[in-house]
Amino acid sequence: MYRILLIFLNICLVYSDEVIEFNEKMWEKCGKELRGDSGKDVNLVCFRSSEYLLIQKIEILSLRPFIIQYHNMVHRRLAKRAVLEAEALQLEQLRISGKTETPEKSQVRAANGTWLIHTKRPNFARMFWNLQANIRALDLSTAEPWQILSYNSEGYYAPHYDFLNPETNKVLVESRGNRIATVLVILQIAKKGGTTVFPKININIRPKIGDVVVWLNTLPDGESDSQTLHAACPIKEGTKIGATLWVHAKGQEFSMPCALDDQTYDTKHFFA
Ligand SMILES: *[C@@H]1O[C@H](CO)[C@@H](O)[C@H](O)[C@H]1NC(C)=O
Repeated sequence: MYRILLIFLNICLVYSDEVIEFNEKMWEKCGKELRGDSGKDVNLVCFRSSEYLLIQKIEILSLRPFIIQYHNMVHRRLAKRAVLEAEALQLEQLRISGKTETPEKSQVRAANGTWLIHTKRPNFARMFWNLQANIRALDLSTAEPWQILSYNSEGYYAPHYDFLNPETNKVLVESRGNRIATVLVILQIAKKGGTTVFPKININIRPKIGDVVVWLNTLPDGESDSQTLHAACPIKEGTKIGATLWVHAKGQEFSMPCALDDQTYDTKHFFA
């Protein structure tokens, strides 16, 4: 049963993501850190997590689309153990193989990866509960399995959206809603390159190990937010490993109960 689900997800992933035209220009924002247009320091806040009474430092990178970076949410030790757990899985499963066809028209992504059921492995399970305890704005149980991606030098993920095209993913979107949010956990960082870039809104960040970046892909009226275009910049040295949860819209009614209007979620639950 799980296998069927995983195969299905795999197909969705490969064929549904809308990718902008592939060219060298798309990496132009990868070079330097960019914190958006709204300034840096004003967006830094912290709150005390109700679960463990720990101080959680967060950075609101953007309000529209809503992008938030939780610093050190996952303990370094746990991240390290999760990396070992991930490496024991067959990461080549999701590999998109094949050489580039022409220099202009290249692959969407060069990475190895796999899907993993949320609580199937102890360290990923612990991480899952840890995130759920801290990010109360989202019900993470509605997420697709973890997607773990590993990029060594030459790895990258071209600019793409995480929301699904409702026409090509009718079954998934009708039953579970679109991918309202992306939760990206940084488990290992590249020595050089490999930043996370949102080219349309001038954000290019290098989160630390244990940081969690969350953003909202769709708006309360169900529309996709095209400002959420993002990419994993080419890795120049070292290996980057990230684990992603794509959270679906159905099931969030209790955690994120109201929208301020058609275009804006009430996001205070992400940091309170
Ligand atoms: C994927 O794994 C293979 C085999 O281990 C390796 O040769 C390749 O460089 C990896 N690719 C990326 C982009 O990490």
